[in-house]
Amino acid sequence: MQIEILGNADSVTEHDNSLLIKTAQAQARVWVFSPTIIRICVTKNSKEPDESFAVIEKSLEDFTWEKLYDTVEVTTSALKLVIDLHPLRFNFLTADGQPLSEDDNRFGVNWQAERVINYRKLYPDEKFLGLGEKAGDLNRRGCNYVNWNTDAAMHTITTDPLYKTFPFFIGLHSGLTYGLFFDNTHKSYFDFGATTDEQMSWFGADGGDMNYYFFGAQGLRNILEDYTWLTGRMEMPPLWSLGYQQCRWSYMSADEVLDIARKFRERNIPADVMYCDIDYMDEYKIFTWNKETFTNPKGMIDQLKDMNFRLVTIIDPGIKIDENYKEYKEGVERGYFATYPDGELYTGSVWPGRCHFPDFFNEEVREWWGAAFEALADPGVEGFWNDMNEPAAWGQNMPWLVKFGERFMPEVRNAYGMQMARGTYYGTKRILKGKRPFILTRAAYAGTQRYSAVWTGDNAATDEHMLFGQRLVNSLGLAGMSMIGVDIGGFMGNPTPELMVRWNSLGPYVPMFRNHAALGMSMREPWQWGEAYEQIIKKDIEQRYKLLPYIYSGFYESTQTGLPLARTLAIDYTTDENIYDTRFQNQFLFGDSILVAPVVSTAETVEVYLPAGDWYRLSSDEKFKGNQIVNVASPLTDLPVFVKAGGIVPMQNVIQNTNEIGDGILQVHIWNGNEVNSFVYYEDDGTTYSYQDGAYYKRTITFDPQKKEIVFGAVEGSHQSKYLKLRVIWHGFEGANVVEMENVNAQINIGF
Ligand code: GLC
Repeated sequence: MQIEILGNADSVTEHDNSLLIKTAQAQARVWVFSPTIIRICVTKNSKEPDESFAVIEKSLEDFTWEKLYDTVEVTTSALKLVIDLHPLRFNFLTADGQPLSEDDNRFGVNWQAERVINYRKLYPDEKFLGLGEKAGDLNRRGCNYVNWNTDAAMHTITTDPLYKTFPFFIGLHSGLTYGLFFDNTHKSYFDFGATTDEQMSWFGADGGDMNYYFFGAQGLRNILEDYTWLTGRMEMPPLWSLGYQQCRWSYMSADEVLDIARKFRERNIPADVMYCDIDYMDEYKIFTWNKETFTNPKGMIDQLKDMNFRLVTIIDPGIKIDENYKEYKEGVERGYFATYPDGELYTGSVWPGRCHFPDFFNEEVREWWGAAFEALADPGVEGFWNDMNEPAAWGQNMPWLVKFGERFMPEVRNAYGMQMARGTYYGTKRILKGKRPFILTRAAYAGTQRYSAVWTGDNAATDEHMLFGQRLVNSLGLAGMSMIGVDIGGFMGNPTPELMVRWNSLGPYVPMFRNHAALGMSMREPWQWGEAYEQIIKKDIEQRYKLLPYIYSGFYESTQTGLPLARTLAIDYTTDENIYDTRFQNQFLFGDSILVAPVVSTAETVEVYLPAGDWYRLSSDEKFKGNQIVNVASPLTDLPVFVKAGGIVPMQNVIQNTNEIGDGILQVHIWNGNEVNSFVYYEDDGTTYSYQDGAYYKRTITFDPQKKEIVFGAVEGSHQSKYLKLRVIWHGFEGANVVEMENVNAQINIGF
């Protein structure tokens, strides 16, 4: 096999808002998207690059470049791209000339037949974070990964690849930060110094172009803001989806679904969502209901609604081959399914048996798919769970000559699940007429945050998986995702009662709090573990509901800046070496101020690393100095959770579901500290899109220890808060400190 290395540049010209650089065998284009974002595309193809599934922004029309003797420099206020022309290499520096990331001068971009690779210089202290749902440690230095969306059933904590592809990583070295997004949906590879004797890192793909976006902002928050500007941000999730969700493969009948829902209410355990896994369908045919066990879907959903439950149903892409099935017939007639090159329909087997697979890359197919949700939305379903969309077929190996329209499966496999979620999202949004649908998907590609929440697939009921799951959540947060769940309790295997309790205590701090288990596993509802444990789990779920005002505001932040709700400590404490220590790498900030330390179910004490600043234990207000390892008690009743000094956490009293108003008091908790801190409190109606037209309620709350005051800023937006009164509660002061105001909108300065 021949290796071709990108050679000397022959010409440099401006072309269509980009720089066009030609070599004998290839051409490179350079676009400036913003002062901190530059795109490079090196291709052997002279046609315009394909439209991206991920990117939603356009490049700038004007940018500054200069041809020097043997180089070209593209400069922005934040970045300098030095392009060596002989041979053609790309080197990114800060505006003042510090190297951020450079091509390996020897190999740069090269090809091995269709495979395209970029070798880059590895810096001695360089760390790598990101790639979303990937096994391994927070710092990925020394590891290599493959992106090839896979139904990773029975995966372990070292399995790669898993279900999703986020070819975006963050590099850290010399006190500097950068990000790189390789926008290519072919099978792709990332090597963070695993194979090259500490000289190079590299990434590449089996085909397509060397097409990447370089992010030169300093600080992870800024990089994430830029990345989610480019690839989009989530919309406000329906408030009900932030409540507790009870799932199982499967509740086998409408009676069972209703019975479980009723038990939550009887036992006063808060919950909002019930799920129907595959067995609600007639022979696993998507958009149908089993006529024996779910005889009256609307009746069931009405009864759920009366109990203030919402229903989420699963859907898989595989359409059963069945002459009497509407979606099958229409799909065949209209040519909507994946084919072999000769036009024969591809058949693969999944739950329904032999199936065809919709070509979600075709807009017409997505429209058709989206419209079919009427069958679920009509009786009242509001949540749509997209599964098996890697796509999965038994045997896993979909032949490489399967085609989706003009594209062969290997070219776009990694974006299939995302396109299914896209069709589901737009279709259900239209059908629900102004109500927010809740979309959940297993497979994903960069940009999926625009359409859907994700969960981390089929984990196992072990302590190790619980910690691993949190690491995945934290890493997905570095890939633009914020609404993320793991199967609490573990999908495969049976958790010990202690593990179940512990995992539920982490649940309030998992962005999507969903309990799920596989067919044949033990029942997992909170009351299955004996009275004492039921009470602990109940308290944990109640904690989730108390925190909802804080959580909702946290998601608002995700919609505005792309910052995830669950944040690896690397976001705010990037240069603190301790946070990369494998003992502490699972810890995370939940929103701005809460630090959570996941702990195995068997440990009654644990070492926690508290970064710089002062911290309070949430459960006791005990104060700790930061920048040190502390040994703290971690009984099953008290997961180590801390609040940053100066932290502002809006809460409410316990409610049983998100439809309930509660006591009408918005509690704003503030923990004493030495530094000014502020929090943007956000509320809207929780179910519609009217917030996009100004119907929200927003105000900034500031804690100022120098002035000794707490300031509630002016209310913005036209929505009326659902709370009537305001209660401010200080922690870490002498004695109790509570102030209550009759008017939630009071614009006040409270001295302390
Ligand atoms: C897949 C999903 C799992 C679901 C099961 C049956 O394994 O990952 O969550 O319960 O299929 O639909």
